[in-house]
Amino acid sequence: MGMISTLRSVVRLRRYERDRTLRRLSKVADVGDLRAMAKKRMPAGCFDYIDGAAQDEVTAAANVSGYGDYYFRPRVLRDVTSVDTTTTLFGSDVPVPLMIAPTGFDRIAHSQGELAVARAAERAGIPYSLSTMGTRSIEEIAAVSDGRKWFQVYVWRDKPLLKEMLERAAVSGFEGIMITVDTAVLGRRERDVRRGFSLPPKVGLDTLVDGVLHPRWTLDFLRAEPIQFANVKGSADVGDGSTPVTLAEYINSQFDPALSWNDIEWFRENWSGLMMIKGVQTVEDAEIAADMGLDGVILSNHGGRQLDFAPPPIHLVSPVADAVGGRTSIICDGGVRRGSDIVKALAMGADACMIGRAYFYALGAAGEKGVDWVLDFLKAGVEHTMALSGIGSIKELNRDLIEVRD
Ligand code: GLV
Repeated sequence: MGMISTLRSVVRLRRYERDRTLRRLSKVADVGDLRAMAKKRMPAGCFDYIDGAAQDEVTAAANVSGYGDYYFRPRVLRDVTSVDTTTTLFGSDVPVPLMIAPTGFDRIAHSQGELAVARAAERAGIPYSLSTMGTRSIEEIAAVSDGRKWFQVYVWRDKPLLKEMLERAAVSGFEGIMITVDTAVLGRRERDVRRGFSLPPKVGLDTLVDGVLHPRWTLDFLRAEPIQFANVKGSADVGDGSTPVTLAEYINSQFDPALSWNDIEWFRENWSGLMMIKGVQTVEDAEIAADMGLDGVILSNHGGRQLDFAPPPIHLVSPVADAVGGRTSIICDGGVRRGSDIVKALAMGADACMIGRAYFYALGAAGEKGVDWVLDFLKAGVEHTMALSGIGSIKELNRDLIEVRD
């Protein structure tokens, strides 16, 4: 008796978490852990589609490591009992300067796919972006989220289809569109080439073995309705995912390689909400976008999935902010793995960051709860970084906080 109570007073048992997903998440410390967990749970082809990038994946790696060139100049002895991460983005407050980037085919990570991400974004109070290549439709997203929503569009060859999608997004209350301009042709993702990866994922002998090795994912996949390109479902001339295709075949046949600045005018005639272009990679193009009166430029290389050796977005932030800051919003998209990355981008002149893989890994690792986890983690990371650098509010962030190292 005595011994047991002594033992009890020395060993404090952690409360047993009954929810299996939360139990797994309790061992996660960062995005790298979520990535490892997603890799274990998902079939290799699906994981590689998310994790992989163009050619030698130099840009994809540099997007992440680029933040490493920015060190802090933390100020001490400044009362940081209250740190406020709230800021204004397109006229309304966000609790943290963060947006969800559009990603295609979320259902290859989890059957809830885009619905899970949209719900988590609304809970976190941050804008959600739905990809044209989403596996949940504009209307399905609107049905589960009253939060702020953006619709990502490509320049399709089929203009009537594009026009119809814009009308649907307007009816469904999307506040803005982001036009992806870095995909004249699809980047060469060599992991997908090697595997002959198609969308929706095909079930063949190799994928069958893969499926057996990833039973939970496979059960989730088989129980759900077939994965389709939900936004173009039923469209006569455009593949809707009923037949598996490689993304390269699909994109190269459906998207218009003749896209030019004139198309931006076309969008303006067919969309009355906010408008950004996604995939700006030079100061010159940011200037044209600002001159055209676009609401925002998204500094992005598509997660390194298009042109390898495109510059990491974090390096573009300060030159672009010097050229067009204050005239158009600047969103830094790519490589964000921690709250400190967001603080760095904002200090250099960005208005917000976007995350893609960070939440996609979370979705593959632990579904909707995983996405909640990563959004909490990033917000807490922003707060923590600000507290340790003596910054009480987002408007105090500026380049004095940063030392750039070569
Ligand atoms: C689609 O846009 C992709 O990057 O795979």
